[in-house]
Amino acid sequence: MMVEANTYVVFGATGNLSLTKLMPAFYHLEAVGRLPKGMRIVAIGRREWQQADWQKEVQKYIEPIARGGIDHKVFDAFAERMDYVQMDISEPEAYTMLAETLTNPKYSPNIAFYLSLGPDLFGGVTSQLKEHGLLDEIKGWRRVVLEKPFGYDVESAKALQNKISKALSEEQTYRIDHYLGKGMVQNVMVFRFANALMEPLWNRNTIDHIQITHAEDKCVGTRAGYYDHSGALRDMIQSHLLQLLALVAMEPPASMDAESLRDEKVKLLKSIRPIQKKQVKGQAYRAQYTDGFIHGNAMHSYLDEPGVAKDSVTETYAALKLYIDNWRWEGVPFYIQTGKNMKQSKTLVSICFKHPPKQFFRDSQVKKMEPNWIIFGIQPNESIKIEMIAKQPGLEINTEQISLDAAMKYDENSKIDAYEELLLDVIKGDRSLFLRFDEVKAAWDVVDPVLTEWASQTDFIDTYPSGSWGPEGSQKLFDHSDQYWRTYINQHCK
Ligand code: BG6
Repeated sequence: MMVEANTYVVFGATGNLSLTKLMPAFYHLEAVGRLPKGMRIVAIGRREWQQADWQKEVQKYIEPIARGGIDHKVFDAFAERMDYVQMDISEPEAYTMLAETLTNPKYSPNIAFYLSLGPDLFGGVTSQLKEHGLLDEIKGWRRVVLEKPFGYDVESAKALQNKISKALSEEQTYRIDHYLGKGMVQNVMVFRFANALMEPLWNRNTIDHIQITHAEDKCVGTRAGYYDHSGALRDMIQSHLLQLLALVAMEPPASMDAESLRDEKVKLLKSIRPIQKKQVKGQAYRAQYTDGFIHGNAMHSYLDEPGVAKDSVTETYAALKLYIDNWRWEGVPFYIQTGKNMKQSKTLVSICFKHPPKQFFRDSQVKKMEPNWIIFGIQPNESIKIEMIAKQPGLEINTEQISLDAAMKYDENSKIDAYEELLLDVIKGDRSLFLRFDEVKAAWDVVDPVLTEWASQTDFIDTYPSGSWGPEGSQKLFDHSDQYWRTYINQHCK
């Protein structure tokens, strides 16, 4: 698709997300020639920086992570597109100055405003943009990208929506969830809907349960101020992991256009059975990391992180057991877990199949045969593995578990980061990988009862050592004692 010249205005440009994700994504798009001619990137920051300071700062962040090493020619071309505008976003006059600046003919009137800011600032900034005519689509399109989290709970999300909808039409709104830009997340859809082999199996008749694990071997780092008021359930499950679940479990959409796709995700999220207050204990689990070792390095406990309240009961690990009340999934549990400071960074979707109705064969090694599993390795390695039972070589019919392994083999340079795709989608006007408000609300509806219940019990939270696979107590979410969290691909498979 032809991409028109445009102007990207990044609010919060000097913040961590912009420097570690957005600017590198723009740079990589420059390197592969995907930034249109005439595109400019305007960074909005509070600091008294000159153009050269900004360019230096961006280079400092890109240098260590540029794929294949930084290419100075590419960086120079990229730097040519960059402008820095100092602005106090709480001052209405600053928007008059911004509007004036953007009338310079070097800026295309097709403008995307990327709000890399906390959600508490979305309402104020969008209404100022509106008041200063910056959202009027007279000569070109105007779009606004909103980073997650969209609200703090269902009520604040509704209030936020109410505020921004006074300034923005839904067509101008791009609520980002960067998981939808990940190649393997999209591959879940392709695997399901491009292979006739899968569809007959993808239901309650053959699937025993489904698990989604997102583990990180990192602590909260410099984000304690945000994280201590958020916790793992809000930070990861309400957004990224429920989106992943929706793609795994939704019905085939009428087409791949934005509305059809989002209609199906909403339908699925709305079919998740609400967790009642008295069920929270059996269907949700939370814990906080204590000190320990990760990859041989000593890590301190969450309570010792700078910026975390000493008596904090914020969960750094959360797990849910969910049921989807529809024809396809009735009775199939979906388990989701996520945690910081765990043993390894890894995101997996694991589909566990039922055992065959009758067992004819035996495994010479183990008493009980393993079920079949399909495992999507979302990251760090992208793969699809199908674990099956096969006959061992030899005279006897003894069985063993084997794995049909489809590792996605990319060379380093063809890997793309989720933000690269999403930044391009905004300027193409493709909203399929962005969230509609009814999706966001439906996801809050799933986690809100748990958050409310947890908020009322602030006297106890379980713990897990840094460097472990999380709290043992979360095992109690499983229906059977021989079920377990899949945190590995292929442990005993040949
Ligand atoms: C962010 C969360 O949205 O996603 C972070 O706020 C989390 O806490 C991150 O670490 C995970 O994203 P990724 O792409 O590194 O898996």
